[in-house]
Amino acid sequence: MKLKVLVTRKIPEPILEKIRNDCDVFVWDNEDTPIPRELLESKISDVDGLFCLLTESINSELLEKASKLKVISNMAVGYNNIDIDAASKKGIMVTNTPDVLTETTADLTFALLMATARRLVEASDFLRKGEWQTWSPNLLTGQDIYGATIGIIGMGRIGEAVARRTKGFNMNLLYHNRSRKLDVEQELGATYVTLAQLLRESDFIVVMTPYSAETKNLITYEHFKMMKENAILINMARGGIVNESDLYEALVNGEIWGAGLDVFEQEPVPTDHPLLTLPNVVTLPHIGSASISTRFKMANLAADNLLRALNGEEPINLVNKSHSQTQSEG
Ligand code: GLV
Repeated sequence: MKLKVLVTRKIPEPILEKIRNDCDVFVWDNEDTPIPRELLESKISDVDGLFCLLTESINSELLEKASKLKVISNMAVGYNNIDIDAASKKGIMVTNTPDVLTETTADLTFALLMATARRLVEASDFLRKGEWQTWSPNLLTGQDIYGATIGIIGMGRIGEAVARRTKGFNMNLLYHNRSRKLDVEQELGATYVTLAQLLRESDFIVVMTPYSAETKNLITYEHFKMMKENAILINMARGGIVNESDLYEALVNGEIWGAGLDVFEQEPVPTDHPLLTLPNVVTLPHIGSASISTRFKMANLAADNLLRALNGEEPINLVNKSHSQTQSEG
């Protein structure tokens, strides 16, 4: 009998076919709406594999119902939507999709940084609203990128890819990370600093760290007060890492100059969110890895991880290695 798999969103047909070759698949065949919670809850007890997105909260209550589940394959590099401890305790493997999205996400990080510094969205709206009367010396003036100091918080794969891009802009590169990255220091001339030093000295502060209990509310009002008045905060990681009401206050009070946000504490962000009222905030709907080619590669990698796990092989990107092995060996 074929193993059963639940796929929580419409994914490219060739990838679905690959899963169907080995498994019976139920797909929530909708591009834009997450699977209803009740359906997820009712299906989860009957499947061996789950292919999901970061829109699904795979918490311990859900996993209680997952009596047959062997693998959760998340089509994202981040996996804060999954209770890893609860999955590990049940011997369920959890996989993610790193590497394939690194350069695409670093591209968008730079695009967002540049758009915020040079007020691209505001400028485009200004023109379309018919407000462009004449060329003026101070019209829509922004911040320089070339030669500025950038501080990257979280020097993982994507942080490194952003760091490589800074070289083309002759930027002074600071970083803060759990551990030092000597190769990045040697190759790119990055300087390891404390968080406080990074906040005090950077013109651009780029948040790239994973979301966890330790990084929740990592940046609060006291941190904004340490930043330069011309500082621009870019958050490409997860909304909860930066305290949003503190960010709003800091922007209104002129503690910092602007912010570029691809992520929010609540997604989709409510349209009456105070941050959306500020002209010096550039907002994006969590599209860091959204290129056509990269999204295909992510779906394909998530399928490969799922199938390997179900076929008794080690998945390419196993997140909870020791836990699930201990469990299955025990
Ligand atoms: C997107 O945020 C991801 O984690 O892949």
